[in-house]
Amino acid sequence: MKLEELRQECSECKGCRLYSTRNNLVFGEGVENADVFIIGEGPGENEDREGRPFIGRGGKLLDECLEKQGLSREKNIYIANMVKCRPPENRDPKTDEKEACIGYLLKQIEIVNPKIIVCLGRVSASYFLGKDFKVTKQHGEIFEIDGRKYTATFHPAAILRNINNKPLFEADIEKISNLISNL
Ligand code: URA
Repeated sequence: MKLEELRQECSECKGCRLYSTRNNLVFGEGVENADVFIIGEGPGENEDREGRPFIGRGGKLLDECLEKQGLSREKNIYIANMVKCRPPENRDPKTDEKEACIGYLLKQIEIVNPKIIVCLGRVSASYFLGKDFKVTKQHGEIFEIDGRKYTATFHPAAILRNINNKPLFEADIEKISNLISNL
């Protein structure tokens, strides 16, 4: 299956309540055979309006930090979220919403077949790396699960809230960039 076919299937999904309040599906974007698969939480207002992930202030900060390390959505990144429709009022996605959506994300990962999966923030890290995962303590650690590498770092919105952590975020991205160029 190709990503475009999956996007079509996803656009018709009524698996949870979020389809009824969203404006646009935010399926994900980037390179079909990306080295790095980045996973956020869920679309915010800007993303819902445009149908594209991480395009607000946090997304700009993310893109800037990625580009410094030779990484971009045009070249070697794919980026998506735990849920593909905006949770109202930017609340965290609920358990049943994540459950309804996770199959699409896992299929995207299978199609892209990245060298490493990067969780941005607690919501995606707790799904992929365990619910006790602590981003502030364990960010940048590399894990190998079922033959695939994983890591997690801060959510860009958390960096905007506490800019003191930006060097840690940048160092995590540098580590990811070095890792994929040595694989
Ligand atoms: N926050 C996320 O987690 N994902 C987006 O796409 C935008 C903001």
